[in-house]
Amino acid sequence: MTHDTIFSPAFGNRPSYLVGRERIIQQFIDGFQTEPGNRDRAVVMLGQRGSGKTVLLWELADRASSLGFAVATPTVTAEGMLERIIEKIQESGAQYVKTPATHVSGASIGAMGFTVGLEFTHEAQGKSFAYKLTQLARALTDRGHGLLILIDELQANSPDIRQIVTVYQELVGERLNVAMVLAGLPGAVSATLNDKVLTFLNRARKVNLPPLAFSDVDAFYERAFRQLGVAITPEARRRAAEETQGSPYLLQLIGHNIALRAPNGEELTEESLQSAFTAARLDFENDVCGTTLAALSEKDVEFLGAMALDEGPSAIADVADRMGVTKDYAQKYRRRLIDAGVIEAAGRGRVSFAVPHLADYLRRDWA
Ligand SMILES: Nc1ncnc2c1ncn2[C@@H]1O[C@H](COP(=O)(O)OP(=O)(O)O)[C@@H](O)[C@H]1O
Ligand SMILES: [Mg+2]
Repeated sequence: MTHDTIFSPAFGNRPSYLVGRERIIQQFIDGFQTEPGNRDRAVVMLGQRGSGKTVLLWELADRASSLGFAVATPTVTAEGMLERIIEKIQESGAQYVKTPATHVSGASIGAMGFTVGLEFTHEAQGKSFAYKLTQLARALTDRGHGLLILIDELQANSPDIRQIVTVYQELVGERLNVAMVLAGLPGAVSATLNDKVLTFLNRARKVNLPPLAFSDVDAFYERAFRQLGVAITPEARRRAAEETQGSPYLLQLIGHNIALRAPNGEELTEESLQSAFTAARLDFENDVCGTTLAALSEKDVEFLGAMALDEGPSAIADVADRMGVTKDYAQKYRRRLIDAGVIEAAGRGRVSFAVPHLADYLRRDWA
Protein backbone atom coordinates (compact mmCIF):
# COMPACT_ATOMS: atom_id res chain seq x y z
CA MET A 1 0.00 0.00 0.00
CA THR A 2 1.23 3.44 -0.91
CA HIS A 3 0.91 6.36 1.43
CA ASP A 4 -1.36 8.65 -0.59
CA THR A 5 -0.31 12.27 -0.26
CA ILE A 6 -1.87 13.42 -3.53
CA PHE A 7 -5.46 12.27 -3.96
CA SER A 8 -8.23 13.62 -1.76
CA PRO A 9 -11.64 12.30 -2.76
CA ALA A 10 -14.05 14.41 -0.71
CA PHE A 11 -16.49 17.11 -1.75
CA GLY A 12 -15.15 20.60 -1.32
CA ASN A 13 -11.61 19.36 -0.66
CA ARG A 14 -9.11 21.42 -2.52
CA PRO A 15 -6.99 19.07 -4.61
CA SER A 16 -3.22 19.08 -4.28
CA TYR A 17 -3.13 19.81 -7.99
CA LEU A 18 -5.92 21.46 -9.96
CA VAL A 19 -6.33 19.51 -13.19
CA GLY A 20 -7.36 21.06 -16.48
CA ARG A 21 -9.15 24.22 -15.44
CA GLU A 22 -6.61 26.81 -16.54
CA ARG A 23 -8.54 28.08 -19.55
CA ILE A 24 -11.83 28.42 -17.79
CA ILE A 25 -10.18 30.19 -14.85
CA GLN A 26 -8.60 32.65 -17.22
CA GLN A 27 -11.99 33.34 -18.79
CA PHE A 28 -13.45 34.12 -15.39
CA ILE A 29 -10.52 36.33 -14.43
CA ASP A 30 -10.67 38.20 -17.74
CA GLY A 31 -14.37 38.77 -17.12
CA PHE A 32 -13.75 40.21 -13.64
CA GLN A 33 -11.38 42.72 -15.18
CA THR A 34 -13.72 44.08 -17.79
CA GLU A 35 -15.28 47.48 -17.22
CA PRO A 36 -17.82 47.67 -14.38
CA GLY A 37 -21.22 46.50 -15.46
CA ASN A 38 -19.92 44.20 -18.17
CA ARG A 39 -22.02 41.08 -18.51
CA ASP A 40 -19.02 38.80 -17.99
CA ARG A 41 -18.73 40.02 -14.42
CA ALA A 42 -21.78 38.07 -13.29
CA VAL A 43 -21.52 34.41 -14.10
CA VAL A 44 -23.60 31.40 -13.19
CA MET A 45 -21.46 28.27 -12.98
CA LEU A 46 -23.39 25.04 -13.44
CA GLY A 47 -22.28 21.46 -12.98
CA GLN A 48 -23.30 18.13 -11.53
CA ARG A 49 -22.17 16.97 -8.11
CA GLY A 50 -18.46 16.28 -8.18
CA SER A 51 -17.78 18.36 -11.28
CA GLY A 52 -15.52 20.68 -9.29
CA LYS A 53 -17.65 23.77 -8.69
CA THR A 54 -16.65 24.39 -5.09
CA VAL A 55 -12.99 23.83 -5.82
CA LEU A 56 -13.12 26.20 -8.77
CA LEU A 57 -14.81 28.90 -6.69
CA TRP A 58 -11.99 28.71 -4.13
CA GLU A 59 -9.44 28.90 -6.89
CA LEU A 60 -11.17 32.00 -8.26
CA ALA A 61 -11.11 33.47 -4.76
CA ASP A 62 -7.33 33.07 -4.61
CA ARG A 63 -6.70 34.40 -8.09
CA ALA A 64 -8.96 37.40 -7.65
CA SER A 65 -7.43 38.18 -4.25
CA SER A 66 -4.00 38.29 -5.76
CA LEU A 67 -5.33 40.76 -8.32
CA GLY A 68 -6.45 43.09 -5.55
CA PHE A 69 -10.10 42.11 -5.25
CA ALA A 70 -11.73 41.99 -1.86
CA VAL A 71 -13.34 38.57 -2.00
CA ALA A 72 -16.31 37.09 -0.20
CA THR A 73 -15.07 33.49 -0.36
CA PRO A 74 -17.70 30.86 -1.29
CA THR A 75 -20.78 31.22 0.84
CA VAL A 76 -23.41 28.51 0.71
CA THR A 77 -27.04 29.51 0.28
CA ALA A 78 -28.18 29.14 3.88
CA GLU A 79 -29.19 30.96 7.04
CA GLY A 80 -27.12 34.02 7.80
CA MET A 81 -25.41 34.13 4.43
CA LEU A 82 -25.84 37.88 4.01
CA GLU A 83 -24.00 38.67 7.24
CA ARG A 84 -21.27 36.22 6.32
CA ILE A 85 -20.75 37.92 2.99
CA ILE A 86 -20.39 41.33 4.61
CA GLU A 87 -17.92 39.97 7.19
CA LYS A 88 -15.83 38.25 4.55
CA ILE A 89 -15.56 41.39 2.45
CA GLN A 90 -14.62 43.46 5.49
CA GLU A 91 -11.95 40.96 6.41
CA SER A 92 -10.48 40.58 2.97
CA GLY A 93 -10.79 44.25 1.99
CA ALA A 94 -9.44 45.86 5.16
CA GLN A 95 -5.88 45.79 3.81
CA TYR A 96 -6.89 48.11 0.96
CA VAL A 97 -8.45 50.89 2.99
CA LYS A 98 -5.78 51.64 5.55
CA THR A 99 -5.40 55.09 4.09
CA PRO A 100 -8.24 57.47 3.33
CA ALA A 101 -9.49 57.54 -0.23
CA THR A 102 -7.15 59.51 -2.46
CA HIS A 103 -9.44 60.55 -5.22
CA VAL A 104 -12.96 61.29 -4.24
CA SER A 105 -15.46 60.47 -6.92
CA GLY A 106 -19.12 61.26 -6.92
CA ALA A 107 -19.86 57.84 -5.56
CA SER A 108 -17.56 58.22 -2.58
CA ILE A 109 -19.49 61.12 -1.12
CA GLY A 110 -21.70 58.47 0.33
CA ALA A 111 -18.85 56.16 1.37
CA MET A 112 -19.13 56.80 5.02
CA GLY A 113 -20.22 54.79 7.96
CA PHE A 114 -16.77 53.33 8.70
CA THR A 115 -14.65 53.78 11.79
CA VAL A 116 -11.33 52.23 10.80
CA GLY A 117 -10.68 50.16 7.70
CA LEU A 118 -13.99 48.58 6.74
CA GLU A 119 -15.43 48.41 10.25
CA PHE A 120 -18.86 49.97 10.43
CA THR A 121 -19.69 52.68 12.91
CA HIS A 122 -22.13 51.78 15.61
CA GLU A 123 -24.87 53.51 13.71
CA ALA A 124 -24.11 51.81 10.39
CA GLN A 125 -23.92 48.46 12.15
CA GLY A 126 -27.69 48.27 12.41
CA LYS A 127 -28.36 49.11 8.77
CA SER A 128 -29.46 46.78 6.01
CA PHE A 129 -27.42 44.39 3.93
CA ALA A 130 -28.02 46.61 0.92
CA TYR A 131 -26.59 49.63 2.72
CA LYS A 132 -23.52 47.81 3.98
CA LEU A 133 -22.66 46.12 0.70
CA THR A 134 -23.05 49.41 -1.13
CA GLN A 135 -20.74 51.25 1.29
CA LEU A 136 -18.17 48.49 1.00
CA ALA A 137 -18.30 48.54 -2.79
CA ARG A 138 -17.95 52.32 -2.86
CA ALA A 139 -15.02 52.36 -0.44
CA LEU A 140 -13.20 49.69 -2.43
CA THR A 141 -13.99 51.14 -5.85
CA ASP A 142 -12.70 54.55 -4.72
CA ARG A 143 -9.36 52.98 -3.91
CA GLY A 144 -9.09 51.17 -7.20
CA HIS A 145 -10.08 47.76 -5.82
CA GLY A 146 -12.78 45.37 -6.88
CA LEU A 147 -15.25 43.33 -4.89
CA LEU A 148 -15.99 39.71 -5.78
CA ILE A 149 -18.89 37.73 -4.32
CA LEU A 150 -18.82 33.94 -4.61
CA ILE A 151 -21.96 31.94 -3.91
CA ASP A 152 -22.01 28.14 -3.71
CA GLU A 153 -24.93 25.72 -3.82
CA LEU A 154 -27.15 28.31 -5.41
CA GLN A 155 -30.83 28.12 -4.67
CA ALA A 156 -32.55 30.52 -6.99
CA ASN A 157 -35.68 30.74 -4.87
CA SER A 158 -33.95 31.76 -1.65
CA PRO A 159 -34.97 35.22 -0.37
CA ASP A 160 -31.31 35.92 0.43
CA ILE A 161 -30.29 35.22 -3.15
CA ARG A 162 -33.04 37.55 -4.30
CA GLN A 163 -31.58 40.28 -2.08
CA ILE A 164 -28.04 39.72 -3.29
CA VAL A 165 -29.11 39.86 -6.91
CA THR A 166 -31.15 43.02 -6.33
CA VAL A 167 -28.31 44.82 -4.58
CA TYR A 168 -25.81 43.61 -7.15
CA GLN A 169 -27.87 45.21 -9.90
CA GLU A 170 -27.93 48.47 -7.97
CA LEU A 171 -24.16 48.40 -7.58
CA VAL A 172 -23.80 47.79 -11.29
CA GLY A 173 -26.09 50.73 -11.92
CA GLU A 174 -23.67 52.85 -9.90
CA ARG A 175 -20.78 51.55 -12.01
CA LEU A 176 -19.02 50.12 -8.99
CA ASN A 177 -16.22 47.60 -9.38
CA VAL A 178 -18.12 44.44 -8.45
CA ALA A 179 -18.27 40.90 -9.79
CA MET A 180 -20.15 37.78 -8.80
CA VAL A 181 -20.11 34.05 -9.47
CA LEU A 182 -22.99 31.82 -8.43
CA ALA A 183 -22.40 28.07 -8.61
CA GLY A 184 -25.05 25.39 -8.52
CA LEU A 185 -26.55 22.25 -9.99
CA PRO A 186 -27.76 22.57 -13.58
CA GLY A 187 -31.36 22.47 -12.38
CA ALA A 188 -30.85 25.39 -10.00
CA VAL A 189 -31.67 28.03 -12.56
CA SER A 190 -34.33 26.29 -14.60
CA ALA A 191 -36.90 26.36 -11.81
CA THR A 192 -40.30 27.39 -13.06
CA LEU A 193 -40.20 30.52 -10.92
CA ASN A 194 -40.50 33.60 -13.01
CA ASP A 195 -39.32 36.53 -11.02
CA LYS A 196 -36.58 39.12 -10.98
CA VAL A 197 -33.93 36.70 -9.78
CA LEU A 198 -34.66 34.26 -12.49
CA THR A 199 -34.62 36.96 -15.12
CA PHE A 200 -31.23 38.06 -13.85
CA LEU A 201 -29.86 34.53 -13.68
CA ASN A 202 -31.20 33.73 -17.11
CA ARG A 203 -29.52 36.77 -18.59
CA ALA A 204 -26.22 36.23 -16.78
CA ARG A 205 -23.47 34.42 -18.62
CA LYS A 206 -23.70 30.71 -17.94
CA VAL A 207 -20.75 28.40 -17.74
CA ASN A 208 -21.34 24.68 -17.76
CA LEU A 209 -18.32 23.01 -16.20
CA PRO A 210 -17.10 20.62 -18.88
CA PRO A 211 -15.60 17.21 -18.13
CA LEU A 212 -11.82 17.25 -17.77
CA ALA A 213 -9.93 16.45 -20.96
CA PHE A 214 -8.52 12.93 -21.18
CA SER A 215 -5.03 14.27 -21.91
CA ASP A 216 -5.07 16.43 -18.77
CA VAL A 217 -6.22 13.55 -16.59
CA ASP A 218 -3.69 11.15 -18.07
CA ALA A 219 -0.80 13.61 -17.73
CA PHE A 220 -1.78 14.25 -14.11
CA TYR A 221 -1.98 10.52 -13.34
CA GLU A 222 1.42 9.99 -14.92
CA ARG A 223 3.00 12.58 -12.67
CA ALA A 224 1.01 11.69 -9.55
CA PHE A 225 1.73 7.95 -9.73
CA ARG A 226 5.40 8.62 -10.40
CA GLN A 227 5.60 10.89 -7.37
CA LEU A 228 3.84 8.36 -5.17
CA GLY A 229 6.03 5.52 -6.46
CA VAL A 230 3.03 3.61 -7.84
CA ALA A 231 4.23 1.21 -10.54
CA ILE A 232 1.53 1.11 -13.21
CA THR A 233 1.89 0.35 -16.91
CA PRO A 234 1.10 3.19 -19.33
CA GLU A 235 -1.72 1.05 -20.67
CA ALA A 236 -3.30 0.55 -17.26
CA ARG A 237 -2.82 4.23 -16.46
CA ARG A 238 -4.64 5.23 -19.63
CA ARG A 239 -7.49 2.91 -18.75
CA ALA A 240 -7.69 4.58 -15.36
CA ALA A 241 -7.79 8.00 -17.01
CA GLU A 242 -10.60 6.82 -19.29
CA GLU A 243 -12.49 5.34 -16.37
CA THR A 244 -12.76 8.82 -14.81
CA GLN A 245 -14.96 9.97 -17.76
CA GLY A 246 -13.56 13.42 -17.06
CA SER A 247 -15.25 13.66 -13.67
CA PRO A 248 -12.97 15.37 -11.12
CA TYR A 249 -14.50 13.40 -8.28
CA LEU A 250 -13.93 10.09 -10.09
CA LEU A 251 -10.39 11.23 -10.84
CA GLN A 252 -9.75 11.58 -7.12
CA LEU A 253 -11.57 8.36 -6.20
CA ILE A 254 -9.82 6.22 -8.80
CA GLY A 255 -6.38 7.70 -8.11
CA HIS A 256 -6.80 7.19 -4.40
CA ASN A 257 -8.02 3.61 -4.74
CA ILE A 258 -5.15 2.72 -7.03
CA ALA A 259 -2.63 4.20 -4.59
CA LEU A 260 -4.20 2.20 -1.76
CA ARG A 261 -3.72 -1.04 -3.70
CA ALA A 262 -0.26 -0.43 -5.11
CA PRO A 263 2.26 -2.85 -3.62
CA ASN A 264 5.64 -1.37 -2.68
CA GLY A 265 7.92 -1.50 -5.68
CA GLU A 266 5.95 -4.10 -7.63
CA GLU A 267 3.68 -3.44 -10.54
CA LEU A 268 -0.02 -3.00 -9.92
CA THR A 269 -1.87 -6.18 -10.92
CA GLU A 270 -4.92 -6.32 -13.19
CA GLU A 271 -6.91 -7.57 -10.22
CA SER A 272 -5.95 -4.58 -8.11
CA LEU A 273 -6.79 -2.23 -10.96
CA GLN A 274 -10.26 -3.77 -11.31
CA SER A 275 -10.79 -3.66 -7.59
CA ALA A 276 -9.79 0.03 -7.51
CA PHE A 277 -12.28 0.79 -10.31
CA THR A 278 -15.05 -1.04 -8.45
CA ALA A 279 -14.39 0.69 -5.15
CA ALA A 280 -14.30 4.09 -6.83
CA ARG A 281 -17.50 3.37 -8.74
CA LEU A 282 -19.35 2.31 -5.60
CA ASP A 283 -18.42 5.52 -3.81
CA PHE A 284 -19.37 7.56 -6.85
CA GLU A 285 -22.71 5.78 -7.20
CA ASN A 286 -23.48 6.40 -3.59
CA ASP A 287 -22.43 10.01 -3.44
CA VAL A 288 -23.45 11.18 -6.89
CA CYS A 289 -25.89 8.77 -8.58
CA GLY A 290 -27.91 8.06 -5.44
CA THR A 291 -28.10 11.73 -4.46
CA THR A 292 -29.02 12.77 -7.99
CA LEU A 293 -31.91 10.30 -8.18
CA ALA A 294 -33.12 11.17 -4.69
CA ALA A 295 -33.61 14.77 -5.83
CA LEU A 296 -35.83 13.76 -8.77
CA SER A 297 -39.52 12.92 -8.94
CA GLU A 298 -40.73 9.35 -9.24
CA LYS A 299 -41.71 9.89 -12.87
CA ASP A 300 -38.31 11.36 -13.70
CA VAL A 301 -36.68 8.26 -12.28
CA GLU A 302 -39.10 6.06 -14.19
CA PHE A 303 -38.02 7.80 -17.39
CA LEU A 304 -34.37 7.16 -16.53
CA GLY A 305 -35.14 3.55 -15.67
CA ALA A 306 -36.76 3.12 -19.10
CA MET A 307 -33.65 4.63 -20.70
CA ALA A 308 -31.36 2.30 -18.79
CA LEU A 309 -32.75 -0.68 -20.72
CA ASP A 310 -30.74 0.48 -23.74
CA GLU A 311 -27.01 -0.04 -23.99
CA GLY A 312 -26.33 3.24 -25.79
CA PRO A 313 -28.51 6.32 -26.38
CA SER A 314 -32.28 5.82 -26.11
CA ALA A 315 -34.97 6.82 -28.57
CA ILE A 316 -37.68 8.93 -26.91
CA ALA A 317 -40.30 6.84 -28.72
CA ASP A 318 -38.98 3.68 -27.02
CA VAL A 319 -38.85 5.35 -23.63
CA ALA A 320 -42.46 6.52 -24.02
CA ASP A 321 -43.52 2.98 -25.03
CA ARG A 322 -41.81 1.44 -22.04
CA MET A 323 -43.41 3.97 -19.71
CA GLY A 324 -46.79 3.42 -21.33
CA VAL A 325 -47.24 7.13 -22.01
CA THR A 326 -47.59 9.31 -25.11
CA LYS A 327 -44.54 10.71 -26.81
CA ASP A 328 -45.60 14.26 -25.89
CA TYR A 329 -45.78 13.30 -22.26
CA ALA A 330 -42.33 11.75 -22.43
CA GLN A 331 -41.01 14.94 -24.05
CA LYS A 332 -41.96 16.86 -20.94
CA TYR A 333 -39.74 14.64 -18.81
CA ARG A 334 -37.00 14.69 -21.38
CA ARG A 335 -36.91 18.49 -21.11
CA ARG A 336 -36.88 18.47 -17.31
CA LEU A 337 -34.08 15.94 -17.13
CA ILE A 338 -31.99 17.83 -19.67
CA ASP A 339 -32.47 21.00 -17.61
CA ALA A 340 -31.41 19.09 -14.53
CA GLY A 341 -28.22 18.05 -16.36
CA VAL A 342 -28.97 14.36 -15.84
CA ILE A 343 -29.39 13.45 -19.52
CA GLU A 344 -28.37 15.08 -22.77
CA ALA A 345 -29.63 15.15 -26.31
CA ALA A 346 -27.89 12.56 -28.46
CA GLY A 347 -29.03 13.27 -31.98
CA ARG A 348 -32.55 13.33 -33.39
CA GLY A 349 -35.13 12.04 -30.94
CA ARG A 350 -32.50 10.41 -28.78
CA VAL A 351 -31.05 11.02 -25.34
CA SER A 352 -28.15 9.64 -23.31
CA PHE A 353 -27.05 9.78 -19.69
CA ALA A 354 -24.94 12.79 -18.69
CA VAL A 355 -23.90 11.42 -15.28
CA PRO A 356 -21.21 8.73 -15.25
CA HIS A 357 -22.32 5.27 -14.05
CA LEU A 358 -25.94 6.35 -13.69
CA ALA A 359 -27.20 3.82 -16.24
CA ASP A 360 -25.47 0.91 -14.49
CA TYR A 361 -26.62 2.12 -11.14
CA LEU A 362 -30.24 2.20 -12.33
CA ARG A 363 -29.95 -1.24 -13.89
CA ARG A 364 -28.62 -2.73 -10.71
CA ASP A 365 -30.13 -0.88 -7.79
CA TRP A 366 -33.31 0.54 -9.19
CA ALA A 367 -34.65 -2.30 -11.33
N1 LIG B 1 -9.84 20.54 -11.40
C1 LIG B 1 -9.72 19.55 -10.49
N2 LIG B 1 -8.60 18.79 -10.43
C2 LIG B 1 -8.49 17.81 -9.52
N3 LIG B 1 -9.42 17.51 -8.62
C3 LIG B 1 -10.55 18.22 -8.62
C4 LIG B 1 -10.77 19.28 -9.54
N4 LIG B 1 -11.98 19.82 -9.31
C5 LIG B 1 -12.50 19.12 -8.29
N5 LIG B 1 -11.66 18.16 -7.86
C6 LIG B 1 -11.94 17.17 -6.80
O1 LIG B 1 -13.20 16.59 -7.12
C7 LIG B 1 -14.01 16.42 -5.97
C8 LIG B 1 -15.31 17.19 -6.13
O2 LIG B 1 -15.04 18.59 -6.25
P1 LIG B 1 -16.08 19.68 -5.73
O3 LIG B 1 -15.50 21.02 -6.02
O4 LIG B 1 -16.44 19.39 -4.31
O5 LIG B 1 -17.33 19.40 -6.69
P2 LIG B 1 -18.79 20.06 -6.67
O6 LIG B 1 -18.71 21.28 -5.80
O7 LIG B 1 -19.07 20.38 -8.11
O8 LIG B 1 -19.70 19.00 -6.15
C9 LIG B 1 -13.14 16.86 -4.79
O9 LIG B 1 -12.51 15.72 -4.26
C10 LIG B 1 -12.10 17.77 -5.42
O10 LIG B 1 -10.89 17.75 -4.70
MG1 LIG C 1 -19.74 21.78 -4.05
